[in-house]
Amino acid sequence: MSGKAILDYDGKKVELDAVIGTENEVGLDITKLRAQTGLITLDPGFANTGSCKSDITFINGEKGILRYRGYAIEELAEKSSFLETAYLVLYGYLPSQKELNEFDAGIADEAELHTSMKSHFEGFPDQAPPMAILSSMLNTLACYNPELLTTTYEGEAFDTAVAKIMSKVRTIAAWSYRASRGKSYMAPSPSVSYCGNFLHMMFSRPFDLYEIKPEVEKAIDLFFLLHTDHEQNCSTSTVRIAGSSHVNLFTSVAAGVGALWGPLHGGANAAVIAMLENIHKNGIKLSDYVDAAKDKTNDTKLMGFGHRVYKNFDPRARILKTQVDNVLRALKIDDPLLNIARELEEVALSDEYFIERNLYPNVDFYSGILLKAIGIPVNMFTVMFAIGRMPGWIANWREMLSHNQRISRPRQIYTGENLRPYVPVVKR
Ligand code: SDX
Repeated sequence: MSGKAILDYDGKKVELDAVIGTENEVGLDITKLRAQTGLITLDPGFANTGSCKSDITFINGEKGILRYRGYAIEELAEKSSFLETAYLVLYGYLPSQKELNEFDAGIADEAELHTSMKSHFEGFPDQAPPMAILSSMLNTLACYNPELLTTTYEGEAFDTAVAKIMSKVRTIAAWSYRASRGKSYMAPSPSVSYCGNFLHMMFSRPFDLYEIKPEVEKAIDLFFLLHTDHEQNCSTSTVRIAGSSHVNLFTSVAAGVGALWGPLHGGANAAVIAMLENIHKNGIKLSDYVDAAKDKTNDTKLMGFGHRVYKNFDPRARILKTQVDNVLRALKIDDPLLNIARELEEVALSDEYFIERNLYPNVDFYSGILLKAIGIPVNMFTVMFAIGRMPGWIANWREMLSHNQRISRPRQIYTGENLRPYVPVVKR
């Protein structure tokens, strides 16, 4: 592969160095383009633009490959756990048992919220969207940890911030659910797993502890693992951009929550359930729904289908599809939405519109059915995505700072009015 490209514009020629990644991806380095030529590039949505070099996650969208720090998602899903994978994504290597135990213990120690944070939950209306609460409460953690309002990305201060965020994100999620239903807050248990504690804080009652079924605990753990990181997606890019101003980690991940909330991104898992329930309740013919999703005159989309990068199957969707079968069988649930999802997938994947646009089920297509089977309320589905993505956001924040990257500040092409004189209101 050549090391340079020549840009020849308006009689000016400039050489652009090729940056070749360890998986032979090639990017043209335009960091000096404007200084050398006065030109910028234009790429709304950044479909053709690399924002950084990263060692964290590799995706090959054409081959349906996803790897965290070089490990295949299929192997991690089968052999690892969410916390071990989070450690891998955060620190770059699989931990020893001692390191993993310390990581786990550090997170367990941080499960409680400052007691005065409880009053914040009461300040939200019962129907407040959980993602709004999550974003504001993560930001509120910055108020309770002034010593961590830094851009320290290694050492004890960083490790403490990681433990606080990864641990308290569960408590915030569970307590926002309980507050919305007028239930008392369930203190974290010292004797259950990361995922078990989340389920305990969500569903236990003071006199009747929630029974943590192993298959449910494993399904949640796998759900979080599959969501841990995913290159420079919308919310991760948001965390990097926010962090590039040198704002603290709590506020940077709170910004990521905001971006993730959108139905085109992390909000899609809840939108898939709404779509399947609409089809089920109204007896909509699947072919009619697919036709509506193809019709550009309306904004119907086949939620859970399509992806900016995967132009083949999303490996996470494949893994989740199997997991859904296992959990529904173990819980003896026959969810009609799963049958509709399967039939919809078949109809869509045989339709020319979806085939020529390489639209396949993505991670959100089956995850909603899994979460619904476990009893997670639909309005908490994207919160679940955020809990899983937290290590990936933090790892990208850390990597961006470790690269000593300049503040993110894209340019634009102005297409507005040319210079014009002010007209006094009496003359308008
Ligand atoms: C996530 O980036 C990540 O990595 C994200 C994520 C992660 O882990 O962080 O993987 C998580 O966000 C998964 C995506 C969840 N969103 C959805 O399921 C919502 C439905 N999907 C679409 O909105 C869409 O596919 C996106 C947002 C996922 C991708 O958008 P792109 O890359 O901008 O693609 P596009 O909208 O330009 O689509 C290309 C064509 C268009 O048709 P034409 O203009 O070529 O005729 O495909 C069509 C689109 O209209 N299309 C769809 C469709 N998705 C794309 N048509 C119907 N239904 C769909 N779902």
